[in-house]
Amino acid sequence: MMNPAPLIEMACAYWHSATLIAAVRLDLFTRLAEGPATPAELAARLGTDPVATDALLTGLASLQLIAKADDRFTNTALADTFLVAGRPAFLGPALLYNGDVYPLWADLHTVVREGDATRAPDQYLGDDADRTRNFVYGMHHRALGVGRAVAQVIRLDGRRRLADVGGGPGTYSALLAQANPELSAEVLDLPGVVAIAREIVGSMGVGDRVTCSPFDYYRDTLAGQYDAALISGVLHREQPAQVQAILANVARVVEPGGVLYISDVMLDDDRVGPVFAAMFALNMRVLAHDGRCHSVAEQTAWLAEAGFQVTDVVRLPAPIHYTVIRAERTT
Ligand SMILES: C[S@@+](CC[C@H](N)C(=O)[O-])C[C@H]1O[C@@H](n2cnc3c(N)ncnc32)[C@H](O)[C@@H]1O
Repeated sequence: MMNPAPLIEMACAYWHSATLIAAVRLDLFTRLAEGPATPAELAARLGTDPVATDALLTGLASLQLIAKADDRFTNTALADTFLVAGRPAFLGPALLYNGDVYPLWADLHTVVREGDATRAPDQYLGDDADRTRNFVYGMHHRALGVGRAVAQVIRLDGRRRLADVGGGPGTYSALLAQANPELSAEVLDLPGVVAIAREIVGSMGVGDRVTCSPFDYYRDTLAGQYDAALISGVLHREQPAQVQAILANVARVVEPGGVLYISDVMLDDDRVGPVFAAMFALNMRVLAHDGRCHSVAEQTAWLAEAGFQVTDVVRLPAPIHYTVIRAERTT
């Protein structure tokens, strides 16, 4: 008889996510880093219910995020590196963003039935100050941590002016400005987002060469002239027609010989995998009305229509899961 175990595991997989996210929300790993603790001691530190804390600690230990010795718990190396506030590789805000999105997945069937996102995406992009700050700082920490690999494959030697379209926190512009002293960059994003980007770029010491300007690609036409452009993590919000419109908009301001990098989660050309990209595309579907992941083949064709020729494709492995397309402006 066929074993149904994979189905049971899939149906219960969110238990793991909820356990991790609850612990991050409670600052559990940060407080545990202060010293080994019994469940009662940690509950006292956290101000939580001792019996429920005991259950949560058992769950976290089973997931190998904490370890038990002599009735006391400590963080494992994984938790100590990524889940303690103040550590250089702290991932808390990025994981909490997944926690914010988590209730939307419960309504995936409604999204599929009705074709619409259940919550207006603007809540994350300016309308709700707390969610927007969480989202923008989540992107910043991701770009500084695992996402740094993306900046490392973007070669801008000799380039002087970068348009960072949908640049979010501005972290990639700032990293690229740090790596290329002759480069100035303009982060173009929605007003509520660029307000936070300015403070992030300033904190990275390149506020004089990285400017942040309000820009809505649904409404605004790009102006000026650039010899480089970056569209990172943006096109997964959009259906093909809008992607083509964005590429045409960018083509208008990138001079011949200029370079365009697109970095994003991308589907294989047959559009049935990999699993992370397929799930990410669904995540974008519950979040943003038009969310979709695109394949390299699709984008190569759209780039050609816009006057760009693809010169290189780099696939970055987990945990980044991004593919970086490099294209040159031909006409
Ligand atoms: C996933 S984030 C990527 C941010 C950044 N490029 C990065 O890779 O870290 C997508 C960005 O697209 C921006 N965005 C969404 N809709 C937009 C629009 N209509 N016009 C301009 N930017 C938009 C969002 O505000 C957000 O900063």
